[in-house]
Formats: sequence, structure tokens, C-alpha cells
Amino acid sequence: MWISAPGASPNWQRSSAARLMPVRAFREGDRAAVLALWEACGLTRPWNPPEGDLDRAVDGASSTVLVADDAGEIAGSVMVGDDGHRGWVYYLSTAPDRRGGGIGQDLMSAAEDWLRARGVRKVELMVRSTNEAVLGFYDRLGYEREPVAVCSRWLTETDPRLDANPEGE
Ligand SMILES: CC(C)(COP(=O)(O)OP(=O)(O)OC[C@H]1O[C@@H](n2cnc3c(N)ncnc32)[C@H](O)[C@@H]1OP(=O)(O)O)[C@@H](O)C(=O)NCCC(=O)NCCS
Repeated sequence: MWISAPGASPNWQRSSAARLMPVRAFREGDRAAVLALWEACGLTRPWNPPEGDLDRAVDGASSTVLVADDAGEIAGSVMVGDDGHRGWVYYLSTAPDRRGGGIGQDLMSAAEDWLRARGVRKVELMVRSTNEAVLGFYDRLGYEREPVAVCSRWLTETDPRLDANPEGE
């Protein structure tokens, strides 16, 4: 069965006032900590320079990066954007030594609030097949598994994965 019961969810959300710590928009001074967090959480790939992804999301009119700010320490982050139809979430991450305390849940709640405020009705995200362990987290938050295949095509001259790893290793 692919899809969990429609309407199952979402009493899991804490209101913004009740969040464990402030979730706020990325500031330039967060850059090094956010990039290190993404690396530590295994979210980066050699063909996807994270600095470029960060810049595009922060500079774009319909996207942002949110951070969980624990008295100046970046404990987690999430990238969120509105593609004109759906909302999308990327780079959700809680620092490895801070997991299991509700930070990921608060970040997702903040990302959803950000989208809701822009009139977006549905949020979607992709989970790498190598990261199926995280599906339990999204289940817990009331996310459904969609019966779709994701298709993609590079719009660059060459496949960046080959540029990053010419030996194909
Ligand atoms: C996914 C991730 C952000 C979760 O962050 P977190 O701060 O540990 O999550 P929370 O503490 O908010 O968890 C919320 C709930 O989900 C549960 N949960 C967390 N991870 C889970 C998992 N892998 N499987 C099942 N349940 C999980 C928690 O136990 C908690 O349940 P509770 O409310 O009953 O206590 C974190 O594990 C992470 O950074 N992973 C590596 C990066 C990654 O894979 N990102 C997602 C890419 S698609």
C-alpha cells in the first residue's frame, strides 16, 4: 500500500510560540555553520556544490533557508521553496548530537508555515533511496507516500556527476 490514510496527521505540530528554540531565516553569518551541518548530515554530493544551492535559495524571491538557532548555535536547518504550484523542502537537517529532541519537527513546521503564508496548499519532498531510514520521521509527521516516479534531466552541457567523478567510481 503506497498511501497512508488521507487526513491522518497533523497534531504533531508545535505552534511557533511553543517551538524549542527560534526558527528564523538564514543570515550571512550562518553560512559556515549551515554548510558544515549539511556535510555532517550527509546531504551534500560532489556534483551539487552546496554553496551554490544555498545562494540560489537565499537569493531567490520564492525560496529561503530557515535555521534553528540555539542561542547562536545552528542546531538544524531546512531549505524551502514555492515553485508556483507546490512547496518543496530540501536539506532538512538536525545536528547529529541534537537529534531526537524535536528540532526536525519544528523545522518542518516552520517550513510549512512559510509556505502556508504564501498560499501554497501542498508540500512535497524527495527522499533518496539510500536514505529510507528517514521515512519513519516523515511518517511520524503525517506525510503520505506518493505513487509517483521522479524523472530528471541535467540542463548542463555535460553530466555534473561525471565531471565530479570522471572514473565513475
Ligand atoms: C531527519 C532528521 C532531520 C530528524 O531530525 P530530529 O531533530 O532528530 O527529529 P525530531 O526529534 O523532531 O523527531 C520527530 C519525531 O520523529 C521521530 N523520528 C525521528 N527520526 C525518525 C526515524 N528515522 N524513524 C522514525 N521516527 C523518527 C522522533 O522519534 C520523533 O517522534 P516523537 O514525536 O514521537 O518523539 C535528522 O534525523 C537528520 O538530520 N537526518 C539526516 C539528514 C536527512 O536525512 N534529512 C532528510 C533528507 S530527506
